[in-house]
Amino acid sequence: MAELKVLISRQEIAKRVSELGAQITKDFAGQSIIFVGVLKGAAIFLSDLARQVDLDSTFDFIGVSSYGNRPSPTQELQSGWDSTGEVRLTKDVDQSMKDRNVIVVEDILDTGLTLTVLKKLLLAHQPRTLKIAALLDKPSRRKLPLEGDYVGFKIPDEFVVGYGLDYAEKYRSLADICIVPRE
Ligand code: IMP
Ligand code: MG
Repeated sequence: MAELKVLISRQEIAKRVSELGAQITKDFAGQSIIFVGVLKGAAIFLSDLARQVDLDSTFDFIGVSSYGNRPSPTQELQSGWDSTGEVRLTKDVDQSMKDRNVIVVEDILDTGLTLTVLKKLLLAHQPRTLKIAALLDKPSRRKLPLEGDYVGFKIPDEFVVGYGLDYAEKYRSLADICIVPRE
């Protein structure tokens, strides 16, 4: 595979995550928050973001996997993914969300399918508020009308890895966000 190219450096990520943390701290002043990270891609973003929020907060994780239609990473790289396939829950939250301020934390907002399903699912828990934090956003790929409330960076339609994001489970622990070239 060709070499990865840095799209967003670790310094730029740290600066933006601290801005998002400050914004959340301001928006929820005097209240408490539960961050709900979407496994596994959001784990690193969540751990950095939660520490930049100066409020009473805790976190939980939810797991999802896309059924059937999502192609292999190689296919996804070459031709993108144009399905509105189904999303299956593989791990539910461990604590009650009722009357709580919930912020779903996701690595990347792509077609919008995952977060549309998760939003519906979490709303059934009757939270007081439900917001979406996504480190990355590929608006040109959206299939369902959904916007993040706290978005780190809008990026072009490239396949990216690092800072939690993977390509076939590889590269999650890279400190920078890098583009995987479509050879
Ligand atoms: P959506 O349901 O299409 O919005 O997909 C969101 C999920 O697709 C993310 O949580 C990622 O797991 C995956 N994904 C989308 N784009 C990328 C990418 O560029 N790199 C790695 N994973 C991606
Ligand atoms: Mg993901």
